[in-house]
Amino acid sequence: MKRLLTNCTTASGQCNILIDNNIISYVGSEKPEHDELLDCTDLVVLPGMIDPHVHVRDLEAAYKETWKTASYAALAGGITTIMDMPNTIPATTSASGLDAKRKAAEDAYVRHYLHLGATTDNLDELRAILADNPADVVGIKVFLAGSSSNEVVTNPALLESVFQLAKEFNKVVLVHSEYQPVLDKWAAMAPEMEIEFHGMIRHREAAIEGTKLVLDLAQKVGNKLYLCHVSTQEELSLIEAAKAQCDHIYCEVTPHHLLLDDTMLKLVGNFGKVNPPLRAKADRLALIDALKRGVIDCLGSDHAPHSLDEKLQEYATAPSGIPGMETAIPMTYQLVADGEISLDAYYKLIAGNAAEIFGISNVGKIEPGYLADLAILDVHNFPPVISGFFQSKAKYSPFDGMSIAASLAYTIIDGEVYEK
Ligand code: DOR
Ligand code: ZN
Ligand code: ZN
Repeated sequence: MKRLLTNCTTASGQCNILIDNNIISYVGSEKPEHDELLDCTDLVVLPGMIDPHVHVRDLEAAYKETWKTASYAALAGGITTIMDMPNTIPATTSASGLDAKRKAAEDAYVRHYLHLGATTDNLDELRAILADNPADVVGIKVFLAGSSSNEVVTNPALLESVFQLAKEFNKVVLVHSEYQPVLDKWAAMAPEMEIEFHGMIRHREAAIEGTKLVLDLAQKVGNKLYLCHVSTQEELSLIEAAKAQCDHIYCEVTPHHLLLDDTMLKLVGNFGKVNPPLRAKADRLALIDALKRGVIDCLGSDHAPHSLDEKLQEYATAPSGIPGMETAIPMTYQLVADGEISLDAYYKLIAGNAAEIFGISNVGKIEPGYLADLAILDVHNFPPVISGFFQSKAKYSPFDGMSIAASLAYTIIDGEVYEK
């Protein structure tokens, strides 16, 4: 079946796109022969987003989200490839955990890859898994601090071994850089256990120190390092300096750290409780500036769903995390609409760079030969964010009620049109 998308607005101008079954076969001004036509007049066509940072859950936390609900949330948000984090129950830190994850992921409707998790004693097990050359495994995630349910690794010698292992098998090390010893120091000095003080309780110094530590190690070892959810100006400076020295250091920003700050916590309560915490406005502006200057490689949603009941508990016990897949593109497209970044830079931010970093060759670009995964935006008519309509099981959001810059008209995955 050949489907022609006409009058598409893309980074390289107005064009028609022919999809032959599941492959993009033509991009240009001609109108090649086709069986079906999708008129994209006034619509902006993006490569389907590749989201390197999703906590799908399922398994023993299926009440929070399943591969099925996560897939619908992804497609509703224009995300066609997701990479799943290992802090599930059971965790993806062993061969049996990986088997369980793969079995659950059979329910997925989106393309998906998996990250393994490092613990204090699973190096040999990770090596055995990687020795099998698993094509679905793209990274090893390391948490330098506790955050929801996960294993913590802080020992520099052990971290170095994990980095060596990743280098040996050409996998990416993804790091949650808040560093537990520094978190502990500041938590002891916390003023009050209230959401407004989340950024004091999980102090910025923890993220900065952890980032320093792993940047030094990655420069020594020479592995690919991907810093998840950068949230402070200080980390940006460290990363920028390290990137000037070597070409295997990458970083991610989340929509919430880019667009929200701690002044809104009083208003949204635990819906804004996330680790690392929402920071000051100056940090947010520094992230936008870094994005404009090309310091930031990827947008990651850090989709981390919890049940509404859990989020409505008091601050101290409510889990951290924001469901982010359905708002990632609609909220961040504002940067393109405002002329802060070009459409071409946005393509790289949401898809092209992730494909390169994680070594996925057939998605992430709107070019002949690539798989037909596209996010097609209406940039003229749309409602504000209404979390009650989310496909995710987590129907709440700190973005609730905010105006967006674009909504998804269609998501195309593997040549098939998904309509909301
Ligand atoms: O807020 C967060 N939630 N940060 C994390 O690092 C983990 C995540 C989760 O899994 O809930
Ligand atoms: Zn994290
Ligand atoms: Zn995360």
